[in-house]
Amino acid sequence: MTQAAVGDDVWSIKRVLTWAADDLKRRGNDSARLDVELLLGHVLGLDRIGLILHSERPLSGPELSRFRELFKRRRTGEPVAYLLGAREFYGLSLRVDARVLVPRPDSERLVEIALERTRARSMLGQALDMCTGSGCIAIAFARHRPTWSVTASDISEGALEVARDNAHRTGAIRNLRFVSGSLFTPVAGLRFDLVTANPPYIPAGDIQGLPVDVRDFEPRLALDGGPDGLDLVRDIVREAPAHLTPGGLLALEIAFDQGPRTAALLREHGYAEVTVAKDLGGRDRVVSGYGPP
Ligand SMILES: C[S@@+](CC[C@H](N)C(=O)[O-])C[C@H]1O[C@@H](n2cnc3c(N)ncnc32)[C@H](O)[C@@H]1O
Repeated sequence: MTQAAVGDDVWSIKRVLTWAADDLKRRGNDSARLDVELLLGHVLGLDRIGLILHSERPLSGPELSRFRELFKRRRTGEPVAYLLGAREFYGLSLRVDARVLVPRPDSERLVEIALERTRARSMLGQALDMCTGSGCIAIAFARHRPTWSVTASDISEGALEVARDNAHRTGAIRNLRFVSGSLFTPVAGLRFDLVTANPPYIPAGDIQGLPVDVRDFEPRLALDGGPDGLDLVRDIVREAPAHLTPGGLLALEIAFDQGPRTAALLREHGYAEVTVAKDLGGRDRVVSGYGPP
């Protein structure tokens, strides 16, 4: 028998959705319904509309087992993106797993600012994306600036494997290369028209209080920014002028409460036209400025 029906215990799409979403909600999950829809849709090969249209369809035994496995992992806090193995970013579907931070919609602002504030530059620009993780920022930028050469770097070999795979899958590999090492070390002696980074910026003491999904599943190396969260930001702001072409742009993602401190840091180091851009929720998110002459 292929259906999960045993006697009258039939688990239809609607029944699974209701039961599982209620269960997650009781455990304090704010996106319970969406999470369950994504997991169930993944198992059944249906989108959200498909789940509604086929809400009375019973799940087969294998479908129910597969859903239960994913659902049990989600209950422990494992991010949906790791369970699905994919995440949308800037209109691209990227592979993600536990080696990389899950790309956030707020980081799309960094791509927008980088594109907006380098529009007047040469057709043959050079860009560097440090702390690239899944490669999301470098890949989105490279796809929108096909005549530029983009270099992406990370200290984590595991992250670079994921990023390379994403660059091949999206076609960004045509104008994107990867180097490995800490911050500017792998690009010693090179200069760029644009340097972007979404560095780890969580104060070390705040990590314990983060949601379980982040604290227990995303790489610590992607989160920990030292005592006040700004260890890497300070290094980047100090070292970037030696790696920017005249008038080149530095653009950094920061936490919502790090805007004024980071903008002041850029000004102290002689950057011009320093701005703080807000994210979708209206919070400070991207600090950028043109390098000192
Ligand atoms: C916050 S994640 C950002 C990932 C990706 N750019 C994004 O926006 O989703 C920070 C990344 O910085 C990397 N990282 C941490 N310390 C580093 C260092 N000293 N040099 C280069 N990369 C570093 C981590 O491995 C991680 O992939």
